[in-house]
Amino acid sequence: MLEAVELTKHFKQHKAVQAINVYLKRGEIVGLLGPNGAGKSTAIGMISSLITPTTGEVYFQKKDVLKNPQVLRKKLGVVPQEIALYDDLTAKENLEFFGRIQKMKNPELKEKIQEVLEQIGLQDQGKKLVKHFSGGMKRRLNIGAALLHEPEILIMDEPTVGIDPQSRNYILETVKRLNQEKQMTILYTSHYMEEVEYLCDRIYIMDRGSIIASGTKKEIKNILSADQMIQVKMERENEEFIQILQSQPIIARVEMKDHQVTIVVPKEVNLIAKLFKWAEETKANILGVEIQSPTLEDVFLHLTGRALRN
Ligand SMILES: Nc1ncnc2c1ncn2[C@@H]1O[C@H](COP(=O)(O)OP(=O)(O)OP(=O)(O)O)[C@@H](O)[C@H]1O
Ligand SMILES: [Mg+2]
Repeated sequence: MLEAVELTKHFKQHKAVQAINVYLKRGEIVGLLGPNGAGKSTAIGMISSLITPTTGEVYFQKKDVLKNPQVLRKKLGVVPQEIALYDDLTAKENLEFFGRIQKMKNPELKEKIQEVLEQIGLQDQGKKLVKHFSGGMKRRLNIGAALLHEPEILIMDEPTVGIDPQSRNYILETVKRLNQEKQMTILYTSHYMEEVEYLCDRIYIMDRGSIIASGTKKEIKNILSADQMIQVKMERENEEFIQILQSQPIIARVEMKDHQVTIVVPKEVNLIAKLFKWAEETKANILGVEIQSPTLEDVFLHLTGRALRN
């Protein structure tokens, strides 16, 4: 549906975005994950034709967006990273302003404003001045402004930065709802890996202007070593049980700490039944077993040697 090809942006000497390839299929929620300064905002600025690329192309339904921005403009909603609202206007007046920019007129505009206020959970706050809004309410209204013209594609640039957990959850649920109920295609930018992990079907990981990994969550996590880590909680330490584990050639590593045994084995090995058998033989009492899968944070660390958040 939307495709960016070899998009590049240089600000003088600085290579903010280097030859990235990104596509969105209809109905997907796609994540763009990366630390501060990775080039996320510059990338989506180019995709939404707000920033002119140094080189590269953008296509919407096979039409060239850079030559013809209006093929995308009506179908696209962009939620900017910086909150763009008028403090001295009410929520409703703000939405009215943004609706008029989209050339919407009453009575349709009025209806849409009411619908959008409901979508973002501000139906009772429409007459309140934005300057009296909390950070989370402003973020929600910022999203609402992008929804008025019923876009098919929504691009969100870090929509949950600096807000309370409750507003954050509300926004995440709103994103899910827009996708499920309105079949909206969403590009969700964030440096919170849990959000991207929760929301997104496919993910691009960006660092220093380049996309360093892409694919489904599973594909990206498979970048990490072929091992799995199993945590076994024991009632008490049992030397004999540990010795059996250590004597298994298939087990790469065994560590014991605070009644917890960490076992590393290749991913394809299913050890659980054997663990319980060995425990029974040695009268070791297992309280719990947990198989830990790597997080996107682990993948980022593996690829870059740095943590996602500084
Ligand atoms: N207009 C500009 N002029 C010069 N440099 C810029 C400009 N816009 C962005 N940059 C630089 O390009 C790089 C990428 O910036 P960008 O804002 O795209 O990153 P980001 O991933 O959105 O970061 P953040 O998570 O902090 O929003 C940064 O080093 C930034 O300083
Ligand atoms: Mg940004």
